[in-house]
Amino acid sequence: MPEESRDGYVSQRLLPESGSRNGSNRRETAKPEDPSFSQDQKSKNDLNDGDNGNCPTASEERIATGSAYIGTLIAFEQKQSPNYLEQHFRIAPRVFSPKPGTMVAVEAITDDGRHSRILERVTNAWEVNPHEDAFSSNLREVIPIRTEYAEEGTSTVIYRVATIEPLKEAILDESGNVLEIREVQTLPRAGASVYMATGDQIVEALGLEDNPDRGIYVGVLRGSDVSVILKRDVIQRHMLIVGGIGTGKSYTRGIIAEELCMLGVPQVNIDVNGEMVEAAEELGGINLEPGIDFQLPLSALTADDVINAIPSLNGNMVDLVRHAHEELLKASRKSGNHFLLDELLTKIKETGPDLEMKTVTINPAISRTESLRRIKYLGTPYDWKAVLTPGAFININCKGLLVSDLRIITAAVARDLQRLGQAKEFPFVAFSIDEFHLVTPNNQDSVALQVMRELARIGRHVRIGLILTTQSPQDVDRSILKRLLTRFLHAIEPDQLEALRGVLSDASDDLVKQLPKMPQGTCILTGAYETIRHAIVVQVRKRSTTHGGSTPDIWSDFEAMGWVGKRPISQLEENHE
Ligand SMILES: Nc1ncnc2c1ncn2[C@@H]1O[C@H](COP(=O)(O)OP(=O)(O)OP(=O)(O)O)[C@@H](O)[C@H]1O
Ligand SMILES: [Mg+2]
Repeated sequence: MPEESRDGYVSQRLLPESGSRNGSNRRETAKPEDPSFSQDQKSKNDLNDGDNGNCPTASEERIATGSAYIGTLIAFEQKQSPNYLEQHFRIAPRVFSPKPGTMVAVEAITDDGRHSRILERVTNAWEVNPHEDAFSSNLREVIPIRTEYAEEGTSTVIYRVATIEPLKEAILDESGNVLEIREVQTLPRAGASVYMATGDQIVEALGLEDNPDRGIYVGVLRGSDVSVILKRDVIQRHMLIVGGIGTGKSYTRGIIAEELCMLGVPQVNIDVNGEMVEAAEELGGINLEPGIDFQLPLSALTADDVINAIPSLNGNMVDLVRHAHEELLKASRKSGNHFLLDELLTKIKETGPDLEMKTVTINPAISRTESLRRIKYLGTPYDWKAVLTPGAFININCKGLLVSDLRIITAAVARDLQRLGQAKEFPFVAFSIDEFHLVTPNNQDSVALQVMRELARIGRHVRIGLILTTQSPQDVDRSILKRLLTRFLHAIEPDQLEALRGVLSDASDDLVKQLPKMPQGTCILTGAYETIRHAIVVQVRKRSTTHGGSTPDIWSDFEAMGWVGKRPISQLEENHE
């Protein structure tokens, strides 16, 4: 068995914040000639000379993993650690404090004597320094004697500790290659070495894709250069992007748009703020203005959708409109033809007497249904089939529309796509909606609610994958929210966390506590077994297309208009002179 080469003493420059798409998932390591290597390698080896039971840090043969040594597992009595749920390691001197979400590998020996690595996620880290406790710190200030003490690495009392939670166990062969990933069955022993987890260990343990040409490349695992590439199948299980204002939601949506275009997946995007107009052009897609470039047939909506879209419809009028719409819908499904508003009005007039309704019901039902005429985008059907070619990006620019219009458009597009998907008229379409809380508010009936619930529930059977973005998950219909199985959770206000309870997967409390403080462009990615097996922290990659959602630089605009900067009040009157 080859000897463990701790050829990866990790120095600050080896823990980049972002990685390159083309870089392999394997971590770059320092070479033995690296100055940081020799001393630490030596001191670590010196420490390992004693016998330590079956603990792998003993002077037994080691497996080369090519990964970087970053610390040593400790016994932490107050926490009864190491245990199967939580462990702690002392961070080696001069190693960067690992950020929450960093993946590490703790060496262990299985019950049947095989070498393994327990793959664990960092949830927190802290420093122990008795020289800086309140008493010592105060003492130094009140007694003006300059005191100096040795630094971490030389001092015997200063060190840092990280909390880690075991996720999976990788069984290794003699060359350190992963043979098998399984649930954690081995308790690593205090004194075991802790390494940065290697790319292939992480990819296997999380169920990620290792080939960027086959998957959705979203960024790197925070604190590493390991690419996070989602398996392309995740699009059939719906996606959720949440976060507070300006945290990077639309930017992340743009990344997914780029990746899906490259994979050839057609997309239809309801662009609430007109943020994707430029990106759509850059991706070779098309922008549609509702009512100008496209219309939707009344037959795209169900009777309930139509009733919800007509204001002040009540009592018998509801039954009358429902009956008329359902009759037309039945005929249209049979013949394959759409119908328009005039046909619905005629049908109401005809069927009213059949249902023994009086003119006091029929006439107001007609006049209220007439209100649909103001909706310019209800009309002839749009030829989705012609445009939903491989890689197409169809952006429906809804900027400036009323929320009521946004809901009807979303409902009608969703119904149309659902119908076509059911009829296998296209292989698959990703349907995305920004500011989704506006479309199907929680605890409120909305024209789009029913169809969006249906798509969330059975979308994959009708060949539709949802990508929903919101800053306010609290205000989104819960039954839709919980069915979106890949979730990008950007920084969010603590009061929104409650709504996310069901989508946090196995993110620990410590990790969830960090959520409100996630930097822009960083998110916790969670999923289900079929999408991503464990919650991780991702630094989202840079976009290639233009991000249209940036906050305007108003100060430059003022400057361009001749504004000179902040002035004293006394000078302000001069303006008017
Ligand atoms: N992954 C990233 N890499 C680099 N910059 C980013 C990233 N994500 C976000 N940003 C920066 O953060 C800004 C805000 O991002 P974005 O517009 O996506 O926020 P948002 O959450 O959609 O905000 P809003 O709630 O206002 O719609 C962007 O203009 C961009 O400058
Ligand atoms: Mg946005």
